[in-house]
Amino acid sequence: MAQLWGGRFTKETDQLVYNFNASITFDRKFYKQDIEGSIAHVKMLGKQGILTQEEMLAIVKTLQDILNEVEAGTLEISTEYEDIHSFVEAKLIERLGDTGKKLHTGRSRNDQVALDMRLFTREEVKQTDALLTELLETLLGIMETNTETIMPGFTHLQKAQPITLAHHMGAYFEMFKRDRLRLHDIYERMNYCPLGSGALAGTTYPLDREYTAELLGFYGPTLNSMDGVSDRDYLIEYLAACATIMMHLSRFSEEVIIWNSNEYQFVEIDDAYSTGSSIMPQKKNPDIAELVRGKTGRVYGALISLLTTMKGIPLAYNKDMQEDKELSFDAMENVKGCIALFNGMLATMKFNKDIMRNSANNGFTNATDAADYLVNHGVPFRDAHGIVGQIVLYCIEKGIAIDDMSLDELKAISPVFEEDIYEAISMETCVNKRLTIGAPGKEAMEKVILLEKEYLAKNPSMTKQ
Ligand code: ARG
Repeated sequence: MAQLWGGRFTKETDQLVYNFNASITFDRKFYKQDIEGSIAHVKMLGKQGILTQEEMLAIVKTLQDILNEVEAGTLEISTEYEDIHSFVEAKLIERLGDTGKKLHTGRSRNDQVALDMRLFTREEVKQTDALLTELLETLLGIMETNTETIMPGFTHLQKAQPITLAHHMGAYFEMFKRDRLRLHDIYERMNYCPLGSGALAGTTYPLDREYTAELLGFYGPTLNSMDGVSDRDYLIEYLAACATIMMHLSRFSEEVIIWNSNEYQFVEIDDAYSTGSSIMPQKKNPDIAELVRGKTGRVYGALISLLTTMKGIPLAYNKDMQEDKELSFDAMENVKGCIALFNGMLATMKFNKDIMRNSANNGFTNATDAADYLVNHGVPFRDAHGIVGQIVLYCIEKGIAIDDMSLDELKAISPVFEEDIYEAISMETCVNKRLTIGAPGKEAMEKVILLEKEYLAKNPSMTKQ
């Protein structure tokens, strides 16, 4: 048992209590942030004359050594310490003696852990943004080459009207673009430094909080020390953004699974992104898409768990808040993994364009346009709707598409039809007449693709800014 306190205790901590309380098994994950935070703190203490220059330089150098050794694998973060903060401080004192004992001047583990988690989450926000940017690039690539790839658009999973593959992918482009915007918003709100909040009421030392904030790349210090140590809103917001990303990925996965099914065959998932069955030799399963869909649950779980943990906590720090870590770390890993794998699967997926096109041809997706044709020839829409309904019934009985009917057959149902009906209800006409912005028509789609390109050029991934 290695802990930073004990002066006022007369008994050893019960081993079970110690284990229950300790967090080293998971907070070791942010050793880098912990050490970087300490380095900034000590530099500030040196600048303010709270530590001498020699003390400051010795501590900074030793902390840097500890960081390098942990990264190189020559110094192991052992679980005999209560948490990562105790580990780092103990190593520093082992090497520097009394000077090392000055590291924690003007600081509490409460503002320290608040800082570490914020720094860690900030990096996750950036990495998530980078992965989403790659996914958007993949989507845009598919969009650019498929403005004429006709497929059925669905409502109620029933064929509705013809669209293009570019248009369908464009819908996901919008979703993931909004997900990026959410991450950007969160970054703006969270990028303030809690260090210097102390245990809850600041400290009596003349700390320069602006300086520490600047050293760590924050916009400035947080403005209330009680809030500084006990705010986890930024993490809740980030997990909510992750939950939304997963919801989008899960919807997309569901479509890929349907499209990849034997019945649809709209797409074929690359061998590298499929798995086989141990018993059925013919199988090629969309496990990646299914796992992405499945893992959505645990990310929602992390969000609900933290919201629930936080809802009853009086100000300021309470140990409940240690629970902000494990499920969040799990969610962060999974979200990043899911975006990366989904992107790989999408980039290598083969689209069976002929099958998509045939499916649109044979699903009465041009029925609305047939009705619009009648309306354009003076038939009231409700009557036109009824006439085309009869036509569809006739086609279903004969097992044909509307386009397969002869003009005589069409005229028998409504004399308004003329030879130009075939042109009016061709898949190309149906799609390309839809030209308002946001619609699938080629010209409209090309305008949108240009806008999306501009967006990507103006908003490079946060890791590149
Ligand atoms: N392991 C703790 C956490 O994750 C660090 C802060 C401990 N502070 C305290 N007063 N016990 O929240």
